Amino acid sequence: MSSTTVPLSSKPAAKGSSGAKTACIRTFGCQMNVHDSDRMRRMIQDAGYAEVQRYEDADLVILNTCYVRENAVDRVKGHLGELNRLRREGRVKRVALTGCIGAAEESAALSQTYHIDLVLGTHNTYELAEFVGLPTMRETYTPELPGTEGGHNAFVTIMTGCNYQCSYCIVPTVRGRMVCRAMESVLGEVERLVAGGTGYVTLLGQTVDAWRHEGKRFCDLLEAVSESAPRVWFTTSHPSNMEDRTLRAIGERDTIVKRLHLPVQSGSDRMLKVMHRGYKAERYRRKIEVFREAAPDGTLSTDIIVGHPGETEEDHEQTLRLVEDCAFDSAYIFKFSPRRGTEAASLPGTVPDAVVQRRFLEVLRQVEQNAFTRNQRKVGGEEEIYIRHGSTEDGKAIGETWSGHAVHVKTDAAPGTCVRARIESAGPHVLYAGEPATPV
Ligand code: 5AD
Ligand code: SF4
Repeated sequence: MSSTTVPLSSKPAAKGSSGAKTACIRTFGCQMNVHDSDRMRRMIQDAGYAEVQRYEDADLVILNTCYVRENAVDRVKGHLGELNRLRREGRVKRVALTGCIGAAEESAALSQTYHIDLVLGTHNTYELAEFVGLPTMRETYTPELPGTEGGHNAFVTIMTGCNYQCSYCIVPTVRGRMVCRAMESVLGEVERLVAGGTGYVTLLGQTVDAWRHEGKRFCDLLEAVSESAPRVWFTTSHPSNMEDRTLRAIGERDTIVKRLHLPVQSGSDRMLKVMHRGYKAERYRRKIEVFREAAPDGTLSTDIIVGHPGETEEDHEQTLRLVEDCAFDSAYIFKFSPRRGTEAASLPGTVPDAVVQRRFLEVLRQVEQNAFTRNQRKVGGEEEIYIRHGSTEDGKAIGETWSGHAVHVKTDAAPGTCVRARIESAGPHVLYAGEPATPV
């Protein structure tokens, strides 16, 4: 998500645009949505809109939304309420709802309640072009079109949708089945981005390791990308598709960030089966062993759901055990949220809220203890830090080490550059570095 006002694109504005039109894009949810927002950002720029950051300054507001948990919907409802108020005051003129909520049935009711002008799902975002006054968008804005150009960090979509049917998950409903992008198309985009100054490429997809194209597998693609981009990462992985070869490549290839995000969801085989995850905890542990051996200094993160219907105390204990054994560097822990249309929404065995809350805190505590201990080991060492976000008022930039640790570092070095600095302290979530000795 951009935090600055984006200048108008160099392309001519659409007919009839005065150049004074303004638009605000708000993104909720995952990196896929951030990437889709980038694509829409280019459409509105081409249509002659200046991007603004506050709703009250915008003629058009685009909410690019997430549907994965109920609280994501609640947040969006809050924003829609606020936008209606601004509209009554004559400030905001039009509101578009895009992304995963837009693709869900619930969007029809929201559209009525909040008088939304345009609702788009995840497969027809190109229709936004027409809405903002650009012609022939079907040809111009295909999913192949890169969303980010010339930025220091760029997302590159390698696949969309998902072929799994996890009990709790709405993603296959709102994003459809897996479609893999051709290797040449991905490599072409990466090469163009790198030529335009991009230093960091993140390959995106719901289950990137499931990527296949004309006999090539994900590891082939990753290796090829790692040869043309100076810095590469990928997300999200699925334990069933994850190949040892990929894990070893992370360790061996200098340009791949040694950071693995591998959602486990639960440590209990019984729950993994109920969730239709397609693997047992033992497979997951084995994958982690290979990763830790390939990249001993690397970072490992995961997703865990607590309180899925039918989760017993014994299941929960097994999750805690797995968390301890895998010593995650970080984890996204989610309380189960029933999504209409998913299998889990109608399963018996609802876990009481108080129990969910306790389990959530227990997993969180376990993760944080491990992460804190692991981060402490980095203190005193000197690291090469890639600056992701430039310094804010407090003089600290946010960067990333090659091991994938997030670092706050005292520097005004520009995003996209690297500095070398000593790690002075560490918390459970980030490392803190002193002033860099030398720019790299
Ligand atoms: N409830 C709670 N967490 C969920 N996730 C997906 N669907 C749900 C749900 N209904 C979590 C999973 C997934 C992450 C992106 O969101 O852990 O990996
Ligand atoms: Fe959802 Fe499962 Fe697909 Fe991940 S693998 S997007 S959790 S259905």
